Order: sequence, then C-alpha cells, then structure tokens
Amino acid sequence: MDFLQMMQQRYTCKHYDPAKKVAKADLEAILEAGRLSPSAVNLQPWRFIIIEKPEDKAKLEPAIMQTNKLRFADVPTVVLICARTENPDNDVEHVLCKEEADGRFPDAAAKAAQRTGRCNFRNLHLHDALTWNAKQCYIAMTSMLYAADSLGVDSTPVEGFESDKVNAIFKLPEQGLSCELIMFLGHRKTDDSNQLQFRPKSRLSTDDIVTYL
Ligand SMILES: Cc1cc2nc3c(=O)[nH]c(=O)nc-3n(C[C@H](O)[C@H](O)[C@H](O)COP(=O)(O)O)c2cc1C
Repeated sequence: MDFLQMMQQRYTCKHYDPAKKVAKADLEAILEAGRLSPSAVNLQPWRFIIIEKPEDKAKLEPAIMQTNKLRFADVPTVVLICARTENPDNDVEHVLCKEEADGRFPDAAAKAAQRTGRCNFRNLHLHDALTWNAKQCYIAMTSMLYAADSLGVDSTPVEGFESDKVNAIFKLPEQGLSCELIMFLGHRKTDDSNQLQFRPKSRLSTDDIVTYL
C-alpha cells in the first residue's frame, strides 16, 4: 500500500476493544518512528511516556476530558507526548555529542560551527521554548500515527485533556517536561462507529487549501 492510500484509509479510532493489547514489537516500532522524526535543529525536545498499567491509567483518568472518557476506559496503551519546557545549552550539547558519535562532524570546527548556528536558532525561541517544542511534538505524533496504521494498530490523537492536571499528576515540571499531546493506541471494536464504512473520510477540496502562485 502506498502512503496516500494509507492516509485515505486511516481513521481516528473512537471505540477500542479492551481485550486486544498492542504487541510489544508494534509499540516499539511506533516509538521508533517517533524517535526518527525530524525536529528543528534536530533538538528532539520530546519524551514519550507509556501508560499501560491500570493503576497509572486510573491516575491519569481525571485529566481526560469527558468527550474522551469512554475510549480512554477501553484503550490499552496511552502515550503521553511531552515537550521539554526549556532548551538550555546542555540540551543542545547533548544532541551535538550524539551527532558527533554518529559521525556527522568531520572535525571539531564543524561541530563548533553547528553549535553556534543552532544556539542562534534556539535563542530565537528562548521566550517561547515550550510552544516551539510542542510544535515538534506534533510532528513526532504524526509519524507515530502513520507508523501505527502501517502495523495495523489503531490510534487516536488527543488534545482533549487538561495538560496542567497531567503535569501535576506525573510531576512532569520537576522533570522539565509538559504533556502537550496524548496518543491512544489499540485495536478497534468491530463495530467502531467511526470506521470509514460508516463515516467516510471527509476533507476540504484541494482548491480550498492549495494556492499555486
Ligand atoms: C491535534 C489533534 C487533536 C485531536 N484531539 C482529539 C480528541 O481529543 N479526541 C478525539 O476523539 N479525536 C481527536 N482528534 C481526531 C480528529 O477529530 C480527527 O483526526 C479528524 O476529525 C479527522 O478524522 P480522521 O482522523 O478519522 O480522518 C484530534 C486530532 C488531532 C490532529
């Protein structure tokens, strides 16, 4: 199946079968797609926190908005997609050291030049670091949604939750993190009402959204 076909047939799951868990290998592949996602200056300002134990789901439940409560009750795997709240020098350095280890710099001067360039870019976002980092998280989530679909795992991207509550429940600010998105992963109920045979995919037309100058 090509990528556009996958996009045409993927849909947001609304009703999960609680008996069908996400296989460990599938979850790992989905997280790998998140890890491989592009981000501005390769900062990778995200952390993915996996919740599968009933006691952890119970802790999270009060932060889930009413509209998502039913699917949350049944979904077997929940991923908190957290953004770092700041981008200090040592985070930039951490990435540069990994890139050096991965062979991306021919010499120390090349690494130093990259440090300057990336810090300049990062400095543009010192005042809105969390917002900037959250934007990168949306890219990672998109990669994971389609990776999931390619593996036959259903998903729901979720903004319908109270970020402040999640942060307090899991003590995320103490770790320099803020939960900006949640992703549900599982397998649809056979009668999930959002399946395309019941609710065909709908998007605005190309003319509505594309302008060629
Ligand atoms: C950033 C984002 C947040 C979303 N939040 C929710 C949500 O909280 N609950 C939900 O059921 N669906 C949520 N959705 C799913 C959208 O409603 C869905 O993608 C859209 O209606 C298009 O339907 P489709 O994904 O089935 O093609 C969200 C989607 C995105 C991209």
